[in-house]
Amino acid sequence: MKLFETIRIRDITLRNRIAVSPMCQYSAEEGVPNDWHFVHLGSRAIGGAGLVIAEASAIEPAGRISPGDTGIYNDSQTDAWARINHFIKAQGSVAGIQLAHAGRKASTGAPWTGLGSISPDQGGWSPIFAPSAIPFSDGWQIPEVLTRQGIQAVVKGFMDSASRSLDAGFEVVEIHAAHGYLLNEFFSPLTNTRTDEYGGSFENRTRIAREVVSAIREVWPERLPLFIRISATDYLEGGWDLEQSVQLASDLKSLGVDLIDTSSGGNMPKASIPVGPGYQVDFASEIRSRANVATGAVGLITEPAQAEEIVSSEKADLVLLARELLRDPYWPRRAAAELGVEITAPDQYARAW
Ligand SMILES: Cc1cc2nc3c(=O)[nH]c(=O)nc-3n(C[C@H](O)[C@H](O)[C@H](O)COP(=O)(O)O)c2cc1C
Repeated sequence: MKLFETIRIRDITLRNRIAVSPMCQYSAEEGVPNDWHFVHLGSRAIGGAGLVIAEASAIEPAGRISPGDTGIYNDSQTDAWARINHFIKAQGSVAGIQLAHAGRKASTGAPWTGLGSISPDQGGWSPIFAPSAIPFSDGWQIPEVLTRQGIQAVVKGFMDSASRSLDAGFEVVEIHAAHGYLLNEFFSPLTNTRTDEYGGSFENRTRIAREVVSAIREVWPERLPLFIRISATDYLEGGWDLEQSVQLASDLKSLGVDLIDTSSGGNMPKASIPVGPGYQVDFASEIRSRANVATGAVGLITEPAQAEEIVSSEKADLVLLARELLRDPYWPRRAAAELGVEITAPDQYARAW
């Protein structure tokens, strides 16, 4: 079964094709991951995933989605990640991190608060930044337009966070350029109305991504994989779409990106998204074949046979699971049993499997 075959990307070998999709836990203080993150990520490494990607972690305080986001911009955060990564590695998993800047979707309450955008007196912050001064939705903060200097600071922030990721023992870095966060906002003509070299043409709207990838590759070793998560489409006329995603994937591959983690939506609140089992798999498949680059498929992948079909029919090289792995951190073990594959268990659990 292909799902349980190893896969080598640069010098890193994953024990199977199952990855924990990055999931914000909104549970950090001052950006520092804690025991919650240790147990949450550690359990999924014990559960058998080949790759455990830590949540969207901010490259600077203004780039957090919520006050509870993790970060990777200071020493306390880097040290706290190192402890978690040491454990993940000891379980035979590879530790990855998603580096993020929330752009105009920064300063929100955790989802369970139901607050949406929050002001400084509600524990949020201001200003927030974006390519253009267009708020995400009614009642949300109006972002400040990033100056060229501001853009260069963001690029440097991604580079410094990648360097810290290396110090913390991560072996995969994923750039978050999906779901309407900062980089995605630059890509889409609906959220980027700039008239300088970062807006207008496809080449200008995607310039920041090329700069971020090149800057990260300066400090992120050749031997280690670099992923990027994109939203393949805004699902809106005149917005970002699959054609542009294919072109971007191809451009970024030539700069050192190894895998396109293919999600969709999140940039425009009014988009209507045809959600259903594996609804984003076709995007991953198209990008894979047309840009000739490895992809990850994500979104309502819950069944072992479904996951196996995606990788064995070469629609994607990895499957990333989010909510199903929250429901069951042992999903990889369950999938192996269902597909008739024997995988090793930790010694401590050997009598159960
Ligand atoms: C609690 C939660 C937190 C999430 N946080 C992130 C995140 O930090 N970065 C990201 O790219 N996607 C995030 N997502 C989206 C998931 O990674 C995934 O793309 C999405 O849930 C679809 O996959 P699923 O159907 O397997 O849940 C989050 C999803 C959930 C449920």
